[in-house]
Amino acid sequence: MPARQRTAAAPRPKFRAETAEGLTFFHDYAPPTENFRQDAIEGLSATPKTISPKYFYDEIGSQLFDQICETKEYYPTRTEIALLDDISDEIAELAGEETTVVEFGSGSSVKIRRLLESLKDPAHYVALDISKEHLKKSAQKIAHLFPDVSVGAICADFTAEMPLPSTESLKSPNGRRLGFLPGSTIGNFQPKDAEDFLGNAHSLLEPGGAFLIGVDLKKDPDILNDAYNDATGVTAKFNLNLLRRMKRELNADLDPDGFEHLAYYNEKAGRIEMHLKSCGAQDIRIGDRRFSFDDGETIHTENSYKYHVDEFTALAEKAGFKKGRIWTDSNELFSVHFLESHG
Ligand code: AVJ
Repeated sequence: MPARQRTAAAPRPKFRAETAEGLTFFHDYAPPTENFRQDAIEGLSATPKTISPKYFYDEIGSQLFDQICETKEYYPTRTEIALLDDISDEIAELAGEETTVVEFGSGSSVKIRRLLESLKDPAHYVALDISKEHLKKSAQKIAHLFPDVSVGAICADFTAEMPLPSTESLKSPNGRRLGFLPGSTIGNFQPKDAEDFLGNAHSLLEPGGAFLIGVDLKKDPDILNDAYNDATGVTAKFNLNLLRRMKRELNADLDPDGFEHLAYYNEKAGRIEMHLKSCGAQDIRIGDRRFSFDDGETIHTENSYKYHVDEFTALAEKAGFKKGRIWTDSNELFSVHFLESHG
């Protein structure tokens, strides 16, 4: 269901309001663990087999992702950070004073810190993330570092049916709302879902909102293939952790060493695909369910779409944003878009 078409008539997801020291609010929507079992079973029953990349990010997976960002081949993180540094004054000027920054996914503490440092008197910061403990900790850290910013957190899965935080919690009496989605996380969505997500974000950020979003660019496939096949094998570990997590959390009966990391640029689709490839015929069991693999059969674990600047602009415009400022690094590896609401 396109997220954008969800209206007041749709059932509102229930949430628990908790308290967390230092935070103005902490809202917990959605029970993320139960869905893993259900989603894993559903995904392994499908043809072709698939599991959502959101399940990469348990404690271990989040650490492995941080390690990926340090590899020599994975250029997006360091390129985006350098770019954001270069353009921070321009962003501050465009965003204006006393903004409410809404970050989708709170995994990137370096980037949000630098953004909050460069903005003019940011008033509020709201972090949305699926990983509850990680979210709480990183939001509290921001609250501690920025005593003049009121910080709230919402545990939610913004990739699927994004439970919109009540606009109450996002009140921004003076400044505008500024969405922030760095890291080319948008690349995990199918283009149509990316459009729906942006449309949803567009209404969430009203009135007069803006969206600062980092988007990985199409480029020489060799560079892309290397970035997802680092020589030290961290990306392989990150991918294979999904199977280990199924063992740990779902008590799945499987042999993680019986699968191989597979990542390649699918030029026609304009995306990196990651798969877990079965070495030989074998089964995975979860509870009383059995999933059979042929030799070489894969579980599709991630898509990471790459966009030309014009392609992404067109997508954002379909979602209701105006074309705003766009920056790229000098090697044309990565782009940052400042999208403005039509008002
Ligand atoms: C966090 C989704 C942007 O697609 O590049 C990195 C995840 N997967 N290496 C990406 C990832 C393998 C990353 N995103």
